[in-house]
Amino acid sequence: MTEPAARQIVLASRPKGPPTLQNFRMEEVPMPALPPGGLLLRVLYLSLDPYMRGRMDDAKSYAKPVGVGEVMTGESVCEVLASDRPGFSAGDIVLAHTGWRTHAAWSGPALRKLDPKAAPITTGLGVLGMPGFTAYAGLYLIGKPKAGETVVVAAASGPVGSLVGQLAKLAGARAVGIAGGADKCRYVAEELRFDAVVDHRAPDFAAKLAAACPKGIDVYFENVGSAVWQAVLPLLNTFARVPVCGLIAQYSAIGQGAGPNLLPATMRAVLTKSLTLRGFINYEFAAEHYPAFLKTVSAGIADGRIRYREDITDGLENAPAVFMGLLEGKNFGKALIRVAH
Ligand SMILES: NC(=O)c1ccc[n+]([C@@H]2O[C@H](COP(=O)([O-])OP(=O)(O)OC[C@H]3O[C@@H](n4cnc5c(N)ncnc54)[C@H](OP(=O)(O)O)[C@@H]3O)[C@@H](O)[C@H]2O)c1
Repeated sequence: MTEPAARQIVLASRPKGPPTLQNFRMEEVPMPALPPGGLLLRVLYLSLDPYMRGRMDDAKSYAKPVGVGEVMTGESVCEVLASDRPGFSAGDIVLAHTGWRTHAAWSGPALRKLDPKAAPITTGLGVLGMPGFTAYAGLYLIGKPKAGETVVVAAASGPVGSLVGQLAKLAGARAVGIAGGADKCRYVAEELRFDAVVDHRAPDFAAKLAAACPKGIDVYFENVGSAVWQAVLPLLNTFARVPVCGLIAQYSAIGQGAGPNLLPATMRAVLTKSLTLRGFINYEFAAEHYPAFLKTVSAGIADGRIRYREDITDGLENAPAVFMGLLEGKNFGKALIRVAH
């Protein structure tokens, strides 16, 4: 009898600009064995996240790049198929950094268990996982919105931006979202109940953003960079705070990228308006603040004050195309691949 094969997606080549399907390769590999002291995992859901674009480049960053021929990096929700580790048994649902694959032998550090009765397991990759915590930490620990202030966030229908705006409202601030296209804008205004929303694809985007922020901007949660930052910059108030979370519009840029050099205008505003710009990677805050995040956001979901949306595609083989779409705004909600049922 032939052994069932596992599948994985590796980085076939490094992209030059936006990734293409040729940069990925699906491989069949033997089913991994249960490692001594570890777990054998079956991936149920794979998270696709913008940071993965950075891992495809051989550039110095806060994390090591994926090597050509290596499995694409990524976090997933998994079922434990077999366990040789105390505290874990077959059938448990866990979060693990397995990468883009169907099965994994896990001998790494302890894994967070998910309780399917407490929340849908997919939320462990979105609103109750890394993106949600990123929103919570960046907004509350760096942005520090006060009641009555104006908070602006782009990619506002996605897992980070949607929570930033809703948490800003819970803090008594006014939430202004920026999103791409009419459907996402309607969702941000009507479902997520932001106070205003502006379509960054509109030709008069900068003027519309200014009109949506009549008292200027006190906290700008930066997810995008480029043209959105250009429109935000003149609207920032004195002592505004800018948690720099992501620059998705720039991730596939070659060299300096297209568009004007915003550095002189940025530095002038930093000086003359006493701005605080603070970059961060979510995990720097995790040890101290993750439990409070889970408590706050779980309670918000339970009583309906916090809403979220997921965009689930079936089949590991579709991960490259869905990921490429994510970088262009084709996802509508937290991008997930259902790898197995
Ligand atoms: N620092 C950290 O620890 C950390 C952790 C997680 C995420 N992040 C960052 O947070 C940001 C949001 O992540 P997410 O997971 O919530 O992503 P997401 O919203 O699910 O997806 C990315 C969204 O970015 C928007 N976008 C893409 N290109 C754009 C452009 N040129 N101009 C304006 N908007 C553009 C698109 O939405 P529209 O269609 O609405 O434009 C797209 O749907 C990313 O920059 C990511 O890298 C940082």
